[in-house]
Amino acid sequence: MVYITRRETFAASHRLFNPKFSDEQNERIFGKCSNPNWHGHNYVLEIVVAGRPNPETGFVLNIAELKEIIEQHVLTKVDHKNLNVETDFIKGIIPSTENVAIAIWKVLVDKIPSGKLYSVKLSETENNFFEYRGE
Ligand code: NI
Repeated sequence: MVYITRRETFAASHRLFNPKFSDEQNERIFGKCSNPNWHGHNYVLEIVVAGRPNPETGFVLNIAELKEIIEQHVLTKVDHKNLNVETDFIKGIIPSTENVAIAIWKVLVDKIPSGKLYSVKLSETENNFFEYRGE
């Protein structure tokens, strides 16, 4: 099995809050990420596809094709957007890095033409990494 990774970056704004909580509770739980006036992150996204190389091409999946799929289905929806209000597949959920990784998985899982989606890795800051493998 070969695992191929495409790395992408995007910038987006969000606010972490739960409408069931008071402003004080939201601030205590979510800290600076609960700023009612939004804030942004420079996200790093890694999409990992697992498969066996096709004997006729030597590729698990043409990585240029993978780049195009991520661009079309994810990056156009998140880059320079407000994730809480503008991104159809994130709207209505708390846009924590965990939840955004799961949402991106759900968008991509049935769009990989060969091999299988193995992992979605997402980071908001250089010290925190989140990974979802569909389990
Ligand atoms: Ni944040």
